[in-house]
Amino acid sequence: RAEPPEHPRLCGGQPRRELLLAWFAREQRDLPWRATKDAYAIWISEAMLQQTRVETVIDYWRRFMARFSDVRVLAAAHEADVLAQWSGLGYYRRARALHAAAKVIVERYSGEFPRDADAVRELPGVGPYTAGAVLSIAFDQAEALVDGNVVRVFSRWFAHDADYGATTAWAWEIARELVGSESGAGDWNQALMELGATLCTPREPACARCPVSMMCEAFARGVQHELPRAKQRPASIDVELLTVLVENGARVLLEQRPARGRMAGMWQLPTIEVVRDGRTAAQLFAAELPDALEIDAGESLATLRHSITCHRIRVSVVRGRLRAAVRAPFAWVERADIAALACTGMARKTLRACPRENALDRPAN
Ligand code: ADE
Repeated sequence: RAEPPEHPRLCGGQPRRELLLAWFAREQRDLPWRATKDAYAIWISEAMLQQTRVETVIDYWRRFMARFSDVRVLAAAHEADVLAQWSGLGYYRRARALHAAAKVIVERYSGEFPRDADAVRELPGVGPYTAGAVLSIAFDQAEALVDGNVVRVFSRWFAHDADYGATTAWAWEIARELVGSESGAGDWNQALMELGATLCTPREPACARCPVSMMCEAFARGVQHELPRAKQRPASIDVELLTVLVENGARVLLEQRPARGRMAGMWQLPTIEVVRDGRTAAQLFAAELPDALEIDAGESLATLRHSITCHRIRVSVVRGRLRAAVRAPFAWVERADIAALACTGMARKTLRACPRENALDRPAN
């Protein structure tokens, strides 16, 4: 175990625990999952929060909890329903893993979220962060956690200047040391994350309002903006897609993605990747969708941008007509039914951006 680095402002290497906890008790955001100690509810919130902003998660978490109120309900659900509730949050592997883990909890642990750290870490999709979060917050076990916020807070407190990967490994050691063996780990962990999320932010840390700036080595040296060192990001890949909106009254033509690969089995508007070689949209559709359906690509409706993982996507949307009978993997879906369908975030965004074909006959004013 790493000792917290000795430095002049920390007594015996210990940060001012009581000041941070008092600040958290006073200033914490009012988030719905903070009103419960139910491990299932906390687990769902932490799984959602891993790649998604708090403001977005709040509504998703409420809807998910209303639909799958406990682990037995989730375990018994159809995967398509779980994905539908997750639709728009992205990183759908998280939803599939939650569903798989719910089944394990029901089958192996009689529906009780396990309290044993090794058992928790063996659940599908549960890594060291989620295990630490659920065990400390729901059961007040002295388990550490590190997320991006915690890495930033520690690297500033201790003015730890190393590349991001090494800093993360170091932060885990510090987290284990500082979480201590007494009670209060849940509040401690959440206070660290809360500080990182609200004051000790990446670009404009609000040091003047920070409850522990007096012991922050980066603040003392005026280097808080420089820490932690930037992550080496994989270069992002530009992708150009062409999507067709085909409507028939209140119905929209959707396409189910293949059962394997990214966003497996989810529904989207018929979409192809554009290879820039001078072909028109109609020619591209004809080449890419040879026998499943024939599309007459018509007017251009919108151009959207969408980012997933390291792909920066530009989507051109055209209106189309279907000339042949519809066949799998395509299907007509009522617009009203799309909310309950496991749809990609990009499909929802596209449908929001494109006016309904028949919505044009509103009276002009
Ligand atoms: N980010 C993810 N989980 C959190 C929590 N429980 N408290 C504060 N920030 C968080």
